[in-house]
Amino acid sequence: MPGKLTGSSPTTTAKMKCGAVIVAAGRGERLKNTTPKAFIPLRSKPLCQYSLDAFLSYPKITDIVLVIPEEKLSSFSDPKFKVVAGGASRQESVFKGLSALECDTAWVFVHDAARPLLTADLLDRLWESAKNGKNCIAAWPISDTVKLAQNTTIAKTLDRQNLWGAQTPQVFLTSVLKEAYAKAKKDNFTGTDEASLVERLGASVELVVGDPWNLKITTPQDLKLAELILENKL
Ligand code: CTP
Ligand code: MG
Repeated sequence: MPGKLTGSSPTTTAKMKCGAVIVAAGRGERLKNTTPKAFIPLRSKPLCQYSLDAFLSYPKITDIVLVIPEEKLSSFSDPKFKVVAGGASRQESVFKGLSALECDTAWVFVHDAARPLLTADLLDRLWESAKNGKNCIAAWPISDTVKLAQNTTIAKTLDRQNLWGAQTPQVFLTSVLKEAYAKAKKDNFTGTDEASLVERLGASVELVVGDPWNLKITTPQDLKLAELILENKL
């Protein structure tokens, strides 16, 4: 069955390597800033540094690949992680990051640098699920009522009880995620997260309770919110 780790004992699991791909190569067009989003200072630290610090201090992770805009390559190097240039889409950037991982990396965490507030507790929850051979993503139940639209008219109201907002990190067996990327390429499919690619293999992906504070910085308002959270004002 795709997406399942079979025949692993706790001892072999403990020895298997775990990598992280942090994608930070977007332009941040909705943020309307001339600096690429991942390099915008948040309380004087570049946005992508928050995610790097979270993964660098998470003991299970042995290999980190940071994917950044090509023009930033010369100004951002560190022996503690690899840096590679991103692609035209998020999906391409993740693919480039995956290709730079050590080949013996059994699991991979994929994370958007646009979510700087991830915590070690969230990484723990994901790892608890992943180490049992599951593909899993951080997600949070939707609180709004969600409308499916046809232009500006409601076509349908979706059942909120079954709706979750997908977050990152998302964790996969590296072999499964690479297979999902190969299939997406063959089918010319573009998804907005890794789970959507893995689902197309027929593999199951578990929802792990995410964190409402793990917000995605998209607009200037989000940046302000993150500042307030970090200043403990919220
Ligand atoms: N990303 C990437 N390469 C791309 C596009 C996006 O690595 N070609 C990364 C972003 O840096 C971000 C994550 O994917 O960490 C999620 O993307 P998003 O929030 O959409 O960021 P941007 O694409 O930078 O923002 P925008 O869509 O507003 O331009
Ligand atoms: Mg984008």
